Amino acid sequence: MGTTIKCIGILTSGGDAPGMNAAIRAVTRSAIYNGLQVKGIYRGYRGLVTGEIKEFKSQNVSNIIQLGGTILKTARCEEFMTVEGRQLAYENMRAEGIDALVVIGGDGSLTGARIFAQEFDVPCIGLPGTIDNDLFGTDTTIGYDTALNTILDAVDKIRDTATSHERLFFVEVMGRDAGFLALNGAIASGAEAAIIPEYSTEVDQLQEFIKNGFRKSKNSSIVIVAESEKTGGAMHYAERVRNEYPQYDVRVTILGHLQRGGSPTAHDRILASRLGAAAIDAIMEGQRNVMIGIEHDEVVYVPFTKAIKNDKPINKELMNVLRELSI
Ligand code: F6P
Repeated sequence: MGTTIKCIGILTSGGDAPGMNAAIRAVTRSAIYNGLQVKGIYRGYRGLVTGEIKEFKSQNVSNIIQLGGTILKTARCEEFMTVEGRQLAYENMRAEGIDALVVIGGDGSLTGARIFAQEFDVPCIGLPGTIDNDLFGTDTTIGYDTALNTILDAVDKIRDTATSHERLFFVEVMGRDAGFLALNGAIASGAEAAIIPEYSTEVDQLQEFIKNGFRKSKNSSIVIVAESEKTGGAMHYAERVRNEYPQYDVRVTILGHLQRGGSPTAHDRILASRLGAAAIDAIMEGQRNVMIGIEHDEVVYVPFTKAIKNDKPINKELMNVLRELSI
């Protein structure tokens, strides 16, 4: 594919995240500002395969910065996982005159972009869009801060009833196999403990929590559990307490998909706006097949392979902070 880029395609893929619309707006406006044409691709990679593509002008992204979800819709597309599907996607892209793609999504979406870029020599730029915050090479991902604040709102409410009834609550939060939402959600909400996948092979986190003197000074407690096969989830821990410590009155709340909705916070809007504008800068500089991240307030280009393959490390010191502050 030639190096002169005149038209970019933009899509959102995988689980939606608050701030995706702000990113779509930023990519669109920045591209138009720099003299590029923009095409919106609907329903993630599926729209590339089926040709659901529409030209985007500046007005198409008006009044969306404050909206959760994604105006482009999103999907997890089985067909794009096959060579035939990707061939169709490539043909549609060429037919639409799209020279480069901006993909907003999590690691599955960036993996798709990496394979597509390699097979068809298509310049692809990724933006980290997931509430899980599990992409290596960026301090935070688009949607993470909003989801964290949603968790706080919920836990603050749960604490009222936990205190009144003197109960032990296990609150399950999202994150797939990453504990960022659980650990930072626990610190920010003043929870008594967090159970995260990164620790699950090292210690029995329930035993540790009980052993560390839970109920020495309080009659109610909140434990935030990251959903994950590695932790077993909140239900698993509640069941264990019912069997091993029947003296405690236990309840479970699974926050689920409400963590994926809502108006993005200022942090997520600013992050998405900066990343979206940086994606167009990267394209104009001739960058390809990189995820744009922000580390220590600087825009960075992270090769797809690095962003996807490396597990983003969680700061385990934060576990000590949580432990110290929850006495
Ligand atoms: O990756 C984002 C995420 O919300 C994860 O935290 C969660 O495990 C998953 O998506 C849920 O996916 P779905 O919307 O397909 O149920």
